[in-house]
Amino acid sequence: MENFIYYNPTKLMFGKGQLEGLKSELARYGKRVLLVYGGGSIKKNGLYDKVISALKEADAEVFELSGVEPNPRLTTVKKGIDICQKENIDFLLAVGGGSVIDCTKAIAAGAEYDGDVWDIISKKTNAQKALPFGTVLTLAATGSEMNPDSVITNWETNEKYVWGSSVTHPAFSILDPEHTYSVPENQTVYGMVDMMSHVFEQYFHNVKNTPLQDRMCFAVLQTVIETAPKLLEDLQNYEHRETILYAGTIALNGTLQMGYFGDWASHTIEHAVSAVYDIPHAGGLAILFPNWMRHTLDHNVERFKNLMLNMFDIETEGKSDRDIALEGIDKLSAFWTSLGAPSRLADYDIGEDQLDKIADIAAKEMEYGGFGNFMKLNRDDILAILKASL
Ligand code: NZQ
Ligand code: ZN
Repeated sequence: MENFIYYNPTKLMFGKGQLEGLKSELARYGKRVLLVYGGGSIKKNGLYDKVISALKEADAEVFELSGVEPNPRLTTVKKGIDICQKENIDFLLAVGGGSVIDCTKAIAAGAEYDGDVWDIISKKTNAQKALPFGTVLTLAATGSEMNPDSVITNWETNEKYVWGSSVTHPAFSILDPEHTYSVPENQTVYGMVDMMSHVFEQYFHNVKNTPLQDRMCFAVLQTVIETAPKLLEDLQNYEHRETILYAGTIALNGTLQMGYFGDWASHTIEHAVSAVYDIPHAGGLAILFPNWMRHTLDHNVERFKNLMLNMFDIETEGKSDRDIALEGIDKLSAFWTSLGAPSRLADYDIGEDQLDKIADIAAKEMEYGGFGNFMKLNRDDILAILKASL
């Protein structure tokens, strides 16, 4: 392992009825609250009314920013910052999925920054201060509810960056599986693909002696693989929603990543794809990740083989480690397709014409300290992975 410091101050409030705790949490932060939410799902499923009545009970003065896009945009972040500065907001409450939470993080940091928030998002500077914020999560996927990271897109320049700072951990996150009952089937699938991808990104590293971390990765993956088909059969099943909600948080709250950093190239390539084509993040990952795996397989066949044998039943007799690993990658792709995830860029009508542009955008990340930690990739590698994904 490498030395590490683990710091995660987010208070996790998990389970049925945890929204009741919102009032006492708010009492610690102030009365002028900016409620941030998305395109209306929380109004349809009744959560908006429940949150508003909890805020009223807490005597909060509520301001609203609605319409946060999936793949949240810089323009929306700036609207939120304006409200915070004009209305002297004390606290932000994100109610939604990863996009709403990520947008809230950028608003919270931008409101306390004397300059253009894009400086922070594009990592020209580190956020030193942020308004406090909490979350009520409605979709199991990103882990944003318990990590400091945020992903924001600038549509004018086709740039989409992940940034984060020690001041952008949520103060608290309320995770009630019932709040995820209304997540439609396709978003439920995307969420499960995303959390599995987060585990892969962390599992693929070159650091020696991580037996516990490896097994923790396998445990999350096995749990999602076992639960996913059952949940899709019964989207209102509390126990399956609960299992997947918890898995999504554990997959990206830093627990699995103690002692090494992981790879993250597939995510960076996907972010470049969705900076040009506004596709769901995990739809892109379902297409790209198996091709990243085929491209990097020979870097450490043994590590791939162990992963695949811990995820799928694979007959090993008479097969080389490489054959086993390749069969596992095919099984992963088939598993995601069986859930309803896409497998080719063509599924989103993405052809060859923009691949160079996407490769350029992804390769720009190399300026920020290398690209791919398991196996370093250059622009040609990125283009090859994109072409294999057509
Ligand atoms: O906007 P509303 O109306 O709320 O609808 C959303 C949206 O259309 C809907 N939804 C959410 N909860 C629902 C619901 N519909 C019905 N019932 C509910 N309970 O689902 C759609 C997708 O929501 P979104 O928040 O975009 O999904 P997700 O949580 O997958 O977030 C994706 C974003 O997170 C970033 C991605 O790049 C993407 O921008 N990521 C953030 C990460 C992080 N902060 O750590 C890591 C991830 O790897 C990822 O990159
Ligand atoms: Zn992701």
